[in-house]
Amino acid sequence: MHDSQFLPHAPQSDRAPAVREESVMGPERLHTATGDEAALPGPAESTMRAIVQDAYGSADVLRLARITRPEIAGSEVLLRVHAAGLDRGRWHMMTGRPYLLRLVCGIRGPRNPVQGLDVAGTVVAVGSAVTRFSPGDEVFGFGRGAFAEYATAREDKLARKPANATFEQAAVVPVSALTALQALTNAGRIKAGQKVLVTGASGGVGSYAVQLARAFGAEVTGVCSTAKLDLVRSLGAAHVIDYTQDDFADGGHRYDLIIDIAGNPALSRLRRALTPTGTAVITGGEDGGNWTGMDRQFRALVLSPFLRQRLTMCTARQRSRDLERLAELIEAGTVTPSVGATYPLDQVPEAMRYLEAGKARGKVAITI
Ligand SMILES: NC(=O)c1ccc[n+]([C@@H]2O[C@H](COP(=O)([O-])OP(=O)(O)OC[C@H]3O[C@@H](n4cnc5c(N)ncnc54)[C@H](OP(=O)(O)O)[C@@H]3O)[C@@H](O)[C@H]2O)c1
Repeated sequence: MHDSQFLPHAPQSDRAPAVREESVMGPERLHTATGDEAALPGPAESTMRAIVQDAYGSADVLRLARITRPEIAGSEVLLRVHAAGLDRGRWHMMTGRPYLLRLVCGIRGPRNPVQGLDVAGTVVAVGSAVTRFSPGDEVFGFGRGAFAEYATAREDKLARKPANATFEQAAVVPVSALTALQALTNAGRIKAGQKVLVTGASGGVGSYAVQLARAFGAEVTGVCSTAKLDLVRSLGAAHVIDYTQDDFADGGHRYDLIIDIAGNPALSRLRRALTPTGTAVITGGEDGGNWTGMDRQFRALVLSPFLRQRLTMCTARQRSRDLERLAELIEAGTVTPSVGATYPLDQVPEAMRYLEAGKARGKVAITI
């Protein structure tokens, strides 16, 4: 895990939001996220359904509840959420691993009990300092607490929804597409005509990396499992490698740029698959260690200055100008968000299990 930029913001106040469990889950009971008894917060229209999480663990820690709607600060907007995106980062937030993220998000459990970062929805209220958006605008970007009917977002982390995209498609763009874009451009310095290899090409980040690399004029090879070869071809990869059958580092082909998203290949294998002056951008990969999740990245940064090849990493930044660039690419038909599965809000735990099992093809969307 290396998406520390994509951790949720710290909550605006230390007071945990009041939570009222849905009646479908047993007798109604009022309590705060910390477990204290509390008065029902305000009238019914000031509450909302949300997926809440009080502790780190498996998908069993996620539950549907009724809680107070969030309040906005001056630079924020309140969104009626229509869809949210699921990604590996949300899985890390659920499990609290690697442990480094607990320093930022809460040691024993998440300080903000409502997860969900990628969001697409309609603006219903704006803070006093907001200038770019008005109520009624359809937007997408990075929100706080997107697994809910209402979420807040800073205006500088939003862009207008591409006109030709559904809310589900727009909601699965932010984390994964920005990571792919920044890995290819800022970190990878991609040039037209290059041979580019993408590992994890069938997943969230990879499905965008393949499409974007091709749009930048590269000849793309995607690495994935047998069942997803058709998907990766359909995304625009000129070549596909089934990692269950073949090794991309067998010396048969060399690449100018590798966007390494999944599989945790050893640095020696990445180097073997690179041209003598090629670049590898380590963008993801599970099993990177329980403490930082970034063991390979740190070793790459230490080794790189001694090589002609460049080994680097990408920690993507939440920038609205990149969201706007992606919106233009989607409107032009150059990039199409690949929504492989859609789940309703109350099935976020099932969606999380589906992602965890490696079944997702492209992205998973949550509809609200
Ligand atoms: N740097 C950042 O800022 C940043 C941002 C977002 C995410 N990330 C990280 O990037 C990684 C991927 O995230 P994601 O959202 O794309 O996850 P994802 O949607 O789960 O996709 C991962 C994909 O990798 C494939 N895969 C598994 N083992 C593989 C192997 N050995 N070789 C090639 N492909 C393999 C899986 O499908 P198949 O095996 O069936 O093909 C799956 O489609 C995660 O580690 C995440 O934490 C980093």
